[in-house]
This record gives sequence, structure tokens and C-alpha cells, in this order.
Amino acid sequence: MRARTVIIDTDPGTDDAVALFLALGSPELDVRLVSVVGGNVGLERTLANARAIVGLTGRQVPVVAGAGRPLLGSFTAASHVHGDDGLLGVVLPEGPPAAPGVAADAIRAVLRGAAPDSITLVGIGPATNLAIALLTEPALAARVREIVLMTGAVGEGNATPAAEFNAWSDPEALSVLLACGRPVTLASLETTAQALCTPARKAALRALGGGACLRAVCDIMDRVPAAARMGGLGHVEHDACAVAWLVAPHLFATRDVRTTVELAGASRGRTNIFRRRLPGPANARLLETLDADGFFALLGERIVALNPPGGLRP
Ligand code: RIB
Ligand code: CA
Repeated sequence: MRARTVIIDTDPGTDDAVALFLALGSPELDVRLVSVVGGNVGLERTLANARAIVGLTGRQVPVVAGAGRPLLGSFTAASHVHGDDGLLGVVLPEGPPAAPGVAADAIRAVLRGAAPDSITLVGIGPATNLAIALLTEPALAARVREIVLMTGAVGEGNATPAAEFNAWSDPEALSVLLACGRPVTLASLETTAQALCTPARKAALRALGGGACLRAVCDIMDRVPAAARMGGLGHVEHDACAVAWLVAPHLFATRDVRTTVELAGASRGRTNIFRRRLPGPANARLLETLDADGFFALLGERIVALNPPGGLRP
């Protein structure tokens, strides 16, 4: 089957790193561009981390800097979660230089050169870059096959009680994507809570052995504390769920939903994800359930393939 052409917009970020390694190790995806946004940590660090991650894979994928702050409002990092460096102190070799220019222009350039309905946008950070690209040249939305976002929550948030971090960081940008007329797939906090990285799953990944990328993933995972919201059983691999949907959709069950975003007040950034009694036409597909064992098996298989034992690339 022909690989799906994707652009990944990201704010690495420990879980973004795992998602990027999964994407770059999966032959089902042709990663055309990695665009970077400020989010988990500031843009300077998220850009350096994205360059290092792509560099470690040896894949020739341009990495370009984008927005360091949301469309409206001020920037707030999540350094308390990802550390000041964004990778909880895991040091990777410096990656190749960033591509020149800015993310929105690079995203539009890929879309301009593409056939209708052919490019998948994967947003695993605040959606600012993707929104700017589509706002400034709306006709290019016709080149977009699907927008897959790790964002939002049906229930409680993680940035505030009301809002998940990516949606909270730039709710106006999320609103733009929900209104752009192209298919949107959501990995919400309820989706990603099923990607629970327990000590046993971490040990199974580490036991696979294989190469610099898997070691980096395991080193990062070892530093992420178990989440209180998960009963201390492990941490959650949020962003890789968005990538896994594209690589192995059979791991998921989905439901058509209607989603709106609160833009004001104490619930700013809250996503209202209506799953049963929809107040209007469905405008997104929610990844409702995940085969977690299959997810972690996929992670291990694909990340080992990036640097197989013996050093020969597939
Ligand atoms: O709420 C989780 C999301 O916010 C993930 O994308 C994580 O990397 C942070 O960006
Ligand atoms: Ca992220």
C-alpha cells in the first residue's frame, strides 16, 4: 500500500519524542515535514529537541520552526512535566540544522505542491502553526486528507480541571481546524489514558535491545514519573496515539462526535465532545478505545526498525 504523506506539528516534549520515533520508523508514513511549535517548553528547546530526534533516526526530513506563542493570549510551558529542556534531562546528539523559513510557510508549500485530499496533518502540540497555515491560504484545505490531533478531553483536563494542555494552549487554533471543513480525528485524554506505560511495558521495550532510538525512548520513558491521575500505575503516551491511528487503525474503535471549544472564562480551552446526543452534525471522529498491548508492541517493533541490531537499515 502506498505510504500516507504526513506533516507532523509538534512540541517535543517527552511523549512527542516517542510519537516522532514511531512515525519515522513506520513505512506506512511518508513524513514530509516536521514543524515545531512552542508548547511543552519554549520554541528554542522544542526546535532543538525535534532536530535531535529526527537526526537520531537518520531520516532526511526537514524540521522547521513555527510559532513560539498562541494566536491569542500568552505562552505557558509545561516544564513541570517535561523538564526545562523538554526531555527530562535526556541528552541527544545535536541534530541537523533547522530548515530555513517558518512553519506556516513550509506547511503551505507542501500543501501547494500536493494533489487534492492527499496530505495528512498530525498535530501533537498546540495547533497554532496548522491554524496559521490554513487561515492564511484557506483554499489549501482541499489538499488535506485528514487532520489528526492529540487534543481535548471528554471529561477533566490536565492543564486545568476544564482543559487538556494542547487545546488550552491555543483554543482559537483548535477552533480553526475544527471549522476548516476537512476530516478531523481526535485522540483525547480518554484515548491516550489507555496507552498506559507501566513498568512491565517499559521493561519489555528495553528488552528489545535495538539501537540508539529505542535506547533514547526507553531512557526518556524511565524519567517520566507515574501519573497520579493513573493511580501511579504508569505514565501515558499521549502523542503516539495520534500517530498509531495512521499506522495501525485496527488498534482503535472510533465514534463520530461533535466537538466545540470554549474560548472564554474559567473553562477556556475546554473541549465539549458530544458522543451520543449531538447538538449538531458530527465534525470529528473520536478515537474511543485502544488495544494497548498492540500499541506498545507496535512501538517496539517500529522503533527497533529505526536502528536494527547490526546497524543495517531495513
Ligand atoms: O495533554 C497532552 C499533550 O500536551 C501532549 O501533546 C503533550 O506533549 C503536551 O503537548
Ligand atoms: Ca505534544
